[in-house]
Amino acid sequence: MKQLIRKSYMITILIALLGSLVFLDACGSKPGTVAVLMEEDAIAPVAEGYENVTPDYIFTYAENQNEDYPTTQGAREFARLVNEKSQGRIRVRVYANAQLGDEASAVQQVQYGGIDFVRASLAAITDYSEETIVLMMPYLYQSPGHMWKVLDGEIGQEVMNSFTGSGLVPLAWYDAGVRSFYTRKPVSSIKGMKGLKIRVQPSSLMEDLVEELGAGAVPINYEDVYDALQTGTVDGAENNWSSYEAMDHYKVAPYFLADEHSRTPELQLASEQTMQQLSAQDRQMIRECAQESAVLERELWQETEESSRQKVLDEGCREISLSDEEKQKFKDAVRPLYEQYCGGYMEFIHRIEALGVQ
Ligand code: GCU
Repeated sequence: MKQLIRKSYMITILIALLGSLVFLDACGSKPGTVAVLMEEDAIAPVAEGYENVTPDYIFTYAENQNEDYPTTQGAREFARLVNEKSQGRIRVRVYANAQLGDEASAVQQVQYGGIDFVRASLAAITDYSEETIVLMMPYLYQSPGHMWKVLDGEIGQEVMNSFTGSGLVPLAWYDAGVRSFYTRKPVSSIKGMKGLKIRVQPSSLMEDLVEELGAGAVPINYEDVYDALQTGTVDGAENNWSSYEAMDHYKVAPYFLADEHSRTPELQLASEQTMQQLSAQDRQMIRECAQESAVLERELWQETEESSRQKVLDEGCREISLSDEEKQKFKDAVRPLYEQYCGGYMEFIHRIEALGVQ
């Protein structure tokens, strides 16, 4: 057991060393003075009554949002529940703010077993299951309720099952609201998108979506978007209200065009290698803790989405609404992506659409 703890420490240190070597290289510091990711850098809740229990396992969890963000709160709750239900045998250390690397590399590390858990946007995991792309198609859901009917039902389960053999084990769906564009200068129509450089997640669907709207797509990691907006490397980006606020993007791109193009859900995932080390009972317990943490995350999401919107509007951002007619132009422009990306999955799409009209 002690060996497992040691393995977890070693991996964390290795990741930290690699990260800090790159950092130090960029800063021109002398080799030999490397910073190591410390336990204090993580959120590592211990459940009441288990403070003095020495754990058999210490796992790492990667999160690219800040400590207060709803998904990080969900991760904190997951870690606390796992510690409580394992009676102190398992601890989970949550590293927020992308300390364990950008989203795509964190997911890759989870696949290899270097990191034990991650919460990721579907845009970052389409390479591990083709079916995920269906769930992030633009203008797919009529409402948040429609999306949850899909994710909590058979289709959500089928998509989770499609990860079998990928190295990733999906645990629970997390909410991430709806994504819209925001820009440095006001845009109020599809025509206004023409020629703009828009930051997108590193995802070919998101690149093509922006290009169908007449803009140029610039894939950039989440952590680097603020700088890209501030320096004018891009004219705009797209995300939900909570990220727009949490990452200060509203300070450098104050015009929020509420076109609501994508409702991209997120998944909490475990490494298959990590799960294989555990007993069937512990695996089941981990799944239940994840599901329970998702209930909290979804509640927090709704509060944060509205409070973030209110905060940025109070601070002087402008929300630009679209008429139904103008929004339809956005929908029509991106519709060809369905054939392009979901040709083999149109039956899936029809089942999802049918759930929206019930
Ligand atoms: C959302 C999501 C992140 C993702 C980010 C992005 O904020 O929660 O996981 O990295 O979008 O646009 O890259």
